[in-house]
Amino acid sequence: MKKHLISLAAAAATSVLAGAAVAQDEYPNQSITMVVPFSAGGPTDTVTRLITEPMGQVLGQGFVVQNVTGAGGTVAAGQVANAPADGYTVLIHHIGMSTAPTLYPNLPYDPLEDFETVGLVTEVPMTIIARKDFPAETLQEMIDYVKANPDEVTLANAGIGAASQLCGMLFMDAIGTQITTVPYPGTGPALTDLVGGQVDIMCDQTTNTTGQILGGEVKAYAVTAEERLENLPDVPTTAEAGLGDFQLRIWHGLYVPAGTDEAIVQKLSSALQTALQEQNVIDRFAELGTTTVSQERATPELHTEMLSSQIELWRPIIQEAGVSAE
Ligand code: MLT
Repeated sequence: MKKHLISLAAAAATSVLAGAAVAQDEYPNQSITMVVPFSAGGPTDTVTRLITEPMGQVLGQGFVVQNVTGAGGTVAAGQVANAPADGYTVLIHHIGMSTAPTLYPNLPYDPLEDFETVGLVTEVPMTIIARKDFPAETLQEMIDYVKANPDEVTLANAGIGAASQLCGMLFMDAIGTQITTVPYPGTGPALTDLVGGQVDIMCDQTTNTTGQILGGEVKAYAVTAEERLENLPDVPTTAEAGLGDFQLRIWHGLYVPAGTDEAIVQKLSSALQTALQEQNVIDRFAELGTTTVSQERATPELHTEMLSSQIELWRPIIQEAGVSAE
């Protein structure tokens, strides 16, 4: 009797394994949802739309982009952490994946335990910008004005956990002055308000700001890069503009829920790597001041290592700044 039960259990296990193998072989056989943790039209959304099309071509299935905003990207990440681990829900997130564990003491997910990493996508410098009629022409003049009027000046960001929040936090620390921050569901709408003059300054990704800087709709004081950017040659680096070693290059990565089959993760990663090598993708990113990463760096293994070291890198910096969402 016992032997019979054991063989029934073995048969059931074999059929589950066979089912899983078929599922991987057939993957993907329907569209894949890419969850974006910020507003449509913003920098993360822009990166998403640039990679989902070529990735979809490689995989033979299209992507549906879903913007899930809130709490600096943590609402979307929490949603994906709890999604079925079948490869049909993918999260794109940026440096906020590594800052949230320190910023949110009660974060309802663990970036390393609750996700499988698919790979790194891009590295993006930030720009320090202001509304067109802000009364300062250079970064030093802007800093002087902010220090003289800390209660009047407003700094837009996309909530605690956003890249703009991290950059703004480092900026306020660097100049030793706290400014009133105005949170938005993404820097897409924040930039619209900055252009409209409803908010004063912002630190935001070049993927979002290049068009408005080149079009003269906002003032650009500096790029947070070691060298000037080819797409914004007239904008000084933070070092040239007098902010010493203030540099920040943020990144984007792709994630699926923990427990997703390794073969599915590899298929997604390989589609990402192929997409990132396409010349029109490289060119479009370059126009936005953004670097697509090499094939080797867009792997699950390297991105897991990077994510882990980024969590460790930012923890003491955020604790020192005393910023917390709770
Ligand atoms: C966005 O897509 O709106 C952002 O990446 C915002 C941010 O993190 O600053």
